[in-house]
Amino acid sequence: MSGMRPNYRLLSRLAITGIAAVLLMLALAYWWQGNLFHELVGVAVFALLIGHNLINRWWYGTVLRTPPVAQRWAVLIGNFALLAPMLVLLITSVLISQSVFSALPLDASTMAREIHILAAYWVIAIFAVHLGMHWTIVMGAMARTFGLRSPSRMRTMVLRAVAVAIATYGAFAIAVMGFGGKLVDPYVLDMWDFQARMPEFLLNYAAIVGLIATLAHYGLRLLSRSARRA
Ligand code: HEM
Repeated sequence: MSGMRPNYRLLSRLAITGIAAVLLMLALAYWWQGNLFHELVGVAVFALLIGHNLINRWWYGTVLRTPPVAQRWAVLIGNFALLAPMLVLLITSVLISQSVFSALPLDASTMAREIHILAAYWVIAIFAVHLGMHWTIVMGAMARTFGLRSPSRMRTMVLRAVAVAIATYGAFAIAVMGFGGKLVDPYVLDMWDFQARMPEFLLNYAAIVGLIATLAHYGLRLLSRSARRA
C-alpha cells in the first residue's frame, strides 16, 4: 500500500506552482488594487518562480543528455520560450517600478512599459502551454493523492467532457477579454470594471489558460503518438 501514498513532495511543488499561477492572474489585474499591490504580488510571483526553477533544476541537467525526439524538443522549446518573456517581464518590472524598486536610479521609458505589458500577456499564453505539456504529472499526482489505481473509462470520459467545456468557455473568454489583441498591442483599450467584476476576470483568464493548456496537452500527445508510429 505504501506505493500509493500521496507524494507530498510533488504535491508541495505543485502547490508552489499553483500559488504562483493565481498570483500571476492577480498581477495581471493591475487596476484592481493599484500599483503597490501589483508590484508586491509581482515580486512574490518572481520569488515563487525562482523557487520553482531551483526545485526543478535537475531538468536543466537533462537538456543535453536526453535523445532529441519530437516530444522532447517540444517540451524543451516550450520551457525556454517561457523563460524569455519571464526575463523580459522581470527586467522591465525593475525598470518601470514606481514603488518597490523606485529608489533605484533607473530611467523608465514608455517603451519599457509597453514591453512590460506585452510580455505579461505572452507569459500567460506560454505559461498555459507549459502547464498543458506537464499536465500528465499533475494528473498523476492527483490520481495518487486520491488513491485512483487503475484507469477508468468513465473517469476519462468525464474529465474529457470537462476539458471540452473549459476549452469552449476559454474560446469565448479570449473574445471577451480581447486577449488576441493584447498579445500584439499594448494600447488595447481595457474598460474592465475590476471593482465589480474581479471574479469574472479571474474565471475568464483561468478558462483562457485552460483552453491553451488543453491544446498543448493533446498536441503533445499527438506528437508523441505519431513519433512512436514513425
Ligand atoms: C509577475 C507578474 C507581472 C505581471 C503579469 C504584470 C502585468 C502588468 C500589466 C498587464 C500592466 C499594465 C496595466 C495597464 O496599464 O493596463 C502592468 C503595469 C505595471 N507594472 Fe506590472 N506585472 C508584473 C510584475 C510587476 C512587477 C514585479 C513590478 C515592479 C516591481 C511591476 C510594475 C508595474 C508598473 C509600475 C506598471 C504601470 C506602468 C504604467 O502605467 O506606467 N509589474 N503590469
